[in-house]
Amino acid sequence: MALRDFFIALSENRTLNSAAQKYGLKMGAQSVVAGTNIQETIASIKELNKQGISCTVDNLGEFVYEKSEATAAKEQILEVIKAIHENGVDAHISLKPSQLGLDIERDFCYQNLKEIVALADEYNIFVNFDMENYDRLHPSFELMEELNEEHKNVGTVIQAYFHESDENIEKYKNYRLRIVKGAYKEPANIAYQDKAEIDQKFIELIEYHLLNGKFTSIATHDHNVIDHVKQFVKVNNIPNDKFEFQMLYGFRKDMQLQLAKEGYNFCTYVPFGRDWYGYFMRRLAERPQNLTLVTKQVFTK
Ligand code: FDA
Repeated sequence: MALRDFFIALSENRTLNSAAQKYGLKMGAQSVVAGTNIQETIASIKELNKQGISCTVDNLGEFVYEKSEATAAKEQILEVIKAIHENGVDAHISLKPSQLGLDIERDFCYQNLKEIVALADEYNIFVNFDMENYDRLHPSFELMEELNEEHKNVGTVIQAYFHESDENIEKYKNYRLRIVKGAYKEPANIAYQDKAEIDQKFIELIEYHLLNGKFTSIATHDHNVIDHVKQFVKVNNIPNDKFEFQMLYGFRKDMQLQLAKEGYNFCTYVPFGRDWYGYFMRRLAERPQNLTLVTKQVFTK
């Protein structure tokens, strides 16, 4: 089994996931998770804001199969929205429909999402629908579209590795979009497996949405892609207020600061909460070198 598959399998293990919750942010996760509660997270956001970096906040959570868990997640996200508003920080919300009941009952999930999107809209806060595995792709897009009828503060993610990503970006071209390579394990009949092919498609999608003129979030730690985008926006006279770079909290911190200093809009993805395990394992799957973050945390205590 490849190392990537190994970490993805671990990320999907529910027993390990609940065991991890008991042990707090151990195993190095504290370097990539902003805190376990809202207070700690707002403090982290304030620090980033001071450095000219905006944030997108993700209340971590996976494997939600009980309505009570989804309701608790919704309440927590509503609290985050209020905290963003009350503290006047530069931040928006990222959420995963599965955490709000997508795998339980569609209407229940819709109502949870609606409450979140409506409150965020009241405070002029954007809500990004993160994209998960393929089974949840179309149900998530559809929920976002439905909510968009009443609330314009929603947008989503296009994952470059899907063969259908060209159609999806065309369909959602009027939305604010985050473009990513794609983080889940998907079969060859629906997703590219070859890294070079994924990288090529990623660039094409970014260019397409930038030229479209709608706001584009380029979410990557890949310096080659970032350098390419810098050139592309220059040649095509795309103003800085039409795009931003995004990276995950704790990754390539120097580059995050440097991009902000160079005058680009920069947004850090700030995950927080007790349910950090699946998120953390997917980061190890993407880049086993991230294990050095883990060992540093374990051995420098
Ligand atoms: P990739 O991992 O392909 O690395 C390319 C090269 O960049 C490496 O070979 C190395 O040279 C360099 N590099 C990468 N990381 C480095 C590091 N830490 N230090 C030094 N060099 C490094 N996925 C998804 O399916 N749904 C979603 O909603 C999201 N959302 C999301 C938001 C944000 C803000 C980010 C950054 C990412 C996501 N993703 C995601 C994850 C995304 O799909 C993808 O899996 C990861 O970003 C990894 O791919 P990269 O483009 O970062 O580079």
